[in-house]
Amino acid sequence: MKKIYMNENFKHFLHGGDYNPDQWQNYPEVLKEDMRLFKLANCNSMSVGIFAWAALEPEEGKYDFTFLDKAMDDIYANGGRVILATPSGARPAWMAQKYPEVLRVDETRHRRWFGGRHNHCFTSPIYREKVAKINGLLAERYKDHPALIAWHVSNEYSGACHCDLCRDAFRGWLKEKYGTLDELNDQWWTPFWSHIYTDWSQIDPTSPMGECTMSGLFVDWRRFITDQTVDFFKNEIAPLRKYTPNIPVTTNLMGFFPGLDYRKFAKELDFVSHDSYPTWRGDESDIRLASDHAARFDLNRSLKHKPFIQMECTPSNVNHHAYNKLKRPGMHMLAAMQLLAHGSDSVLYFQWRKSRGSTEKFHGAVVDHVGHENTRVFRDVSEVGARLKKLDESILGTVTESRVAIVYDWQNRWALEKTEGFQLRDKKYMNTIHDHYFSLWKRGINVEVIGEDDDFSCYDIIIAPMLYVTSAKMIDKLEQYVKNGGTLQCTYMLGMVNENDRCHLGGFPGGKLKDVFGIWNEEIDTLYPGESNKVELDGVTYKAVDYCELIHAQGAEVLATYGEDFYAGMPAITVNNYGKGKAYYTAFRGEDDFNDKFTELLLNECGITSDFDGELPYGMTAHSRTDGENVYVFLQNYSTKPLTTSTKYTWIIADDKKEVSGEITLASYETLILSRKI
Ligand code: GAL
Repeated sequence: MKKIYMNENFKHFLHGGDYNPDQWQNYPEVLKEDMRLFKLANCNSMSVGIFAWAALEPEEGKYDFTFLDKAMDDIYANGGRVILATPSGARPAWMAQKYPEVLRVDETRHRRWFGGRHNHCFTSPIYREKVAKINGLLAERYKDHPALIAWHVSNEYSGACHCDLCRDAFRGWLKEKYGTLDELNDQWWTPFWSHIYTDWSQIDPTSPMGECTMSGLFVDWRRFITDQTVDFFKNEIAPLRKYTPNIPVTTNLMGFFPGLDYRKFAKELDFVSHDSYPTWRGDESDIRLASDHAARFDLNRSLKHKPFIQMECTPSNVNHHAYNKLKRPGMHMLAAMQLLAHGSDSVLYFQWRKSRGSTEKFHGAVVDHVGHENTRVFRDVSEVGARLKKLDESILGTVTESRVAIVYDWQNRWALEKTEGFQLRDKKYMNTIHDHYFSLWKRGINVEVIGEDDDFSCYDIIIAPMLYVTSAKMIDKLEQYVKNGGTLQCTYMLGMVNENDRCHLGGFPGGKLKDVFGIWNEEIDTLYPGESNKVELDGVTYKAVDYCELIHAQGAEVLATYGEDFYAGMPAITVNNYGKGKAYYTAFRGEDDFNDKFTELLLNECGITSDFDGELPYGMTAHSRTDGENVYVFLQNYSTKPLTTSTKYTWIIADDKKEVSGEITLASYETLILSRKI
């Protein structure tokens, strides 16, 4: 049996969410009612103390754990468990006033005032000391409390600080990376515009006030921010590891969030946790939205190649979108089951109860201001909780097997964002990742979202769209992958620069990639919006939009050529046999119809199919988990209309153990969880 649990001592899907008893200390009747409602909503866990520093330490060195002691005891007494937060996501006013260095300095070198959240300096020794102290007190106090099942460290780390301490730390980081200024000047190509550095102290982070053109600096600054945030995180968790070595640690990540390279974070986490807030509209556009979010969930799972925890989602609306629409009836269950389908072992909410005042008072919550359980949202939540209980035994801890991976890389994204040329404002890297993913999602294929450090040999197909940055290591790994029998699809913009955004010489794609793909990319044509070229494959003509590369086949077989313009007849799609594998190159950006066609070609070539055998109409998906003996397929309908498929197998429905076979019709927003022996 292949099962991996977040905490071996609590083998249940986690259902509950962010709980703020610190805000309600003067309302004992509310706190009492919370516990009644907690059970009624079929909840079993709460994340407590996330922004509670001012309550925990009202004055410097004076601590008050009363509310937390009570919450831990009450939740446990009601059969629940606690994901205990460290409070560093926001700090008390007294601290900001007494130690201004804890506050962040912006890129114009102005120190921010007290207020808001997620805005501390990650380098400040005082902030680090204060955080370590409060975290140590929490860990020591609750280390033996039976409610404690995990640590929720800080909240949604993000942003950067430009104070003197951070700038010094950045210079130290650069020295460590490059060793000499000569090497740095060469990698960043600083002779351009006379930007040669002759002393480390001359280097400042990217800023609109100063250096904002040099892409090598920009990418390194982004890397430094990740490393400094991870370093801050390590400082946060040291006391937790000391007092509670067996309690798993996480911090809530935000999917494809551009600010931090989560692959570096993942190495320090015991499990990945994630927050997301899809803008469900209640129409057919939800189908594509579901795919884009599925990609995020797959990224979470891939970060540690095991189930993750959805730490936050809303039971209904949010308050921070431009339009905060309610989830339509049925959507909450559908979205909750989607989390499970992609490897989540929880459905946790922001938030348990609406705060009475301040900015999030109209954000969706399990308990509304009305205070009782007779609401649509409360009923929706209870239903999800009841269903999760039924699925504990079969699905909790099961894993996802995937033979297909998509490469998504943060440094590639940063370099593409900064580099000038092509489509200047937005080269659409993220859209392109999502477009490729969408074709796989529609076909019910499990996907991993991987990066340079992952083991490529686990996959039969790797798709690496717009892989503009290729380090020597990446080039080597791609080459080995194909040589050893892998099927690789790369696209326009492959292998143009190294990890410091310095161009590869000798023709694109750089280094051995020219041999792997058997091509040379001489030029890239950027089209205006609305313009297109034509590419014919298997008798069907597809549109080439945005980018058309002018490539030469140097050993590769040409599968399709351009139909128009001065490069009509030049290769548009190629394949090259290299070692035991195949390297496909698509030199242009296709639209959905082309991506679907090409994905089908790759999957057929490698004999990869969904774990569900039936045809999937548009809007119906089928993703799976397994315990090694059974496969569990989540058949879901994202359309507003009923959809029908059929199967040749006899499946057992996971919820009620009834059998189903032949034609299956799913109502709009329905999820059927089907299992069969492998
Ligand atoms: C998250 C955050 C929560 C809450 C929520 C609202 O990003 O972690 O504290 O603000 O958004 O949707």
